[in-house]
Amino acid sequence: MIAVHAEHLSKSYRIYPRPSARLQELLSFNRVNRHKDFWAVEDVSFEVERGKTVGIIGVNGSGKSTLLQLVAGILQPSRGTVTAEGRISALLELGSGFNPEFSGRENVFINGALLGLSRAEIESRLGAMERFAEIGEFFDQPVKTYSSGMFVRLAFAVAINVDPEILIIDEALAVGDGIFQHRCMHKILQLKKEGKTIFFVSHDNSAIKRLCDEVILLDGGRRVALGDPDSMVQKYLELMYAREKRYATESNSKSNVDSGGAKNFFDIPPEAVVSTIPNVDHRFGDGRAELLGIEVSGEEGIPKRSFAPGERMQVKISARFKEALETPIIGFIIRDPLGVDLSATNTDYDNAPLGKAKAGEIRTVDFDVQLPLLRPGNYSISPAVADGTAFRHTMCDWIDNAVVFSIETGEFIHGMMRLNISVKVH
Ligand SMILES: Nc1ncnc2c1ncn2[C@@H]1O[C@H](COP(=O)(O)OP(=O)(O)OP(=O)(O)O)[C@@H](O)[C@H]1O
Ligand SMILES: [Mg+2]
Repeated sequence: MIAVHAEHLSKSYRIYPRPSARLQELLSFNRVNRHKDFWAVEDVSFEVERGKTVGIIGVNGSGKSTLLQLVAGILQPSRGTVTAEGRISALLELGSGFNPEFSGRENVFINGALLGLSRAEIESRLGAMERFAEIGEFFDQPVKTYSSGMFVRLAFAVAINVDPEILIIDEALAVGDGIFQHRCMHKILQLKKEGKTIFFVSHDNSAIKRLCDEVILLDGGRRVALGDPDSMVQKYLELMYAREKRYATESNSKSNVDSGGAKNFFDIPPEAVVSTIPNVDHRFGDGRAELLGIEVSGEEGIPKRSFAPGERMQVKISARFKEALETPIIGFIIRDPLGVDLSATNTDYDNAPLGKAKAGEIRTVDFDVQLPLLRPGNYSISPAVADGTAFRHTMCDWIDNAVVFSIETGEFIHGMMRLNISVKVH
């Protein structure tokens, strides 16, 4: 049985060049046309069977939230249709659903009534909601006094305790703390088992893989692919990677890094030198040497950004020396999802001395890393080129968070990593 059916679903917004243009249009009784139509969701069709969990992924602004709001009936489509069978409970992006002036308890009653529950039905579930949200006496305080985490806790408690047939969840888990996230995940899995239909938007690829039966990939409001979670997440990463590359090319061409001449001068085959830096959060150093690029790839040397715990990863870093250096070193730091230094290496520390560097010379180093059994999340790499030893050096060029890669697994890893361990029982 089909629970949700969307056909050519589209939503457009009017975009005005200036705020005053809207007024002009209004005052002319729409005889003057000053707006452009912007399609936040365009021509999206799909069918979802009852009991399936559907993930929706895509970069920021690709139309995920708009699509969910259309399915939930909160937005009216500009074109196309969407039909849903059964009671829908939606947990949308922060800010929707609650009246800030009313208390948590009052909002529960208002929301429950909107979802078609009787007062008695709401009262019978109030205890469960209060327990699930676990926000203590704030339950009777106005919602405007809530932290964003408390807000999500209440919203989630309501959404899953109103006995929905279709549950729609937009990103909300990300705001809760670790314990609450686990509690939500547990509850969602339970609802999934009970045969509810679930729509789930998240930037957390592991959660998508763990929860979803099928995934819709959106880009620019359009459905670019629909399929199983693994291949959709892979497609999504490719999409992000292409975007990142475009961004890097643009920002590199803006900075006056001129590596082309030097490359030819020293006759280095261009493919050995990496010349893109995906991201620059912060950069410092005395400028005697300059990082030209960094690339992260898998064992086969093909660039990628998603790894399994324990996989092999190649990190390639190129740097140009503007002056002759006696003891150049090239290396990097890996930071965990919380920004904590996880580990670091460089050519001196791992015994691969570069020798002296001549002025104008470009050097490239390949690091072959066996990743630990890290927990899922986004990790960053900050490369550096310096002069000295691993323990005593002057920094020539350091770039914070130049590349981000993700660790993905459906397996639960407790703490920072899983130990590489063997257990014997006597
Ligand atoms: N009320 C609105 N008026 C005009 N444009 C809008 C409106 N709401 C959304 N948009 C635009 O529609 C596009 C899709 O927005 P949407 O919020 O659906 O993206 P998203 O995929 O949920 O992004 P994110 O990952 O950042 O949550 C964006 O370009 C956004 O600017
Ligand atoms: Mg969104």
